[in-house]
Amino acid sequence: MGNVRAVVLVGFMGAGKTSVGQLLARRLGWQFEDLDDRIQKREGRTIEQIFQDSGEPGFRRAEHEALRALLAESQGAPRIIALGGGAYIQPDNGALLRAAEASTVFLDGPADELFARCQQQAVQRPLRRDREQFEGLYAARRPQYLTASVRVDTSGKSVDAVTAEVARCLGLQFIPSEAGPPPGAAN
Ligand code: S3P
Repeated sequence: MGNVRAVVLVGFMGAGKTSVGQLLARRLGWQFEDLDDRIQKREGRTIEQIFQDSGEPGFRRAEHEALRALLAESQGAPRIIALGGGAYIQPDNGALLRAAEASTVFLDGPADELFARCQQQAVQRPLRRDREQFEGLYAARRPQYLTASVRVDTSGKSVDAVTAEVARCLGLQFIPSEAGPPPGAAN
């Protein structure tokens, strides 16, 4: 994959973008950035409040500006960036990512598993309503996620295993002190 300087994790709600991103960054000794966190800090409002006050179009504008600012800063420092589930679907954001020459990784998984993971989390997600709506939205978005440089299947896998697979796919080496237990070791 050449000289990877920015890895951007994409995928639907519940795919593990934040958990895998945090662990991957720690294991590589890179910086981690979460786009939803950036949006909330810039706006001084939660994602839920932004949706309530400004609707989805207002949220998408804030998301685009936050991504633009994030990609423009500290050029050259290697980073892992977790996007929110809808960010990669917006064409303007795809253009920003291409211009930044980011490596995009799609964390894939079956909709029922993603829905179950979301149910276990306290995070408020305005675009997760009932299962039928969730599955329909995932089906509509999946073709776009599949345009990412790499796809990693997360089904039935731990955050650790997915993190190792992402690094392997991108040819990235963990720093020795953070490499975790050797394969096959009991944990
Ligand atoms: C969204 C996903 C959320 C967040 C917002 C919208 C979406 O991020 O950005 O609620 O459109 O799928 P996660 O994928 O981290 O839940």
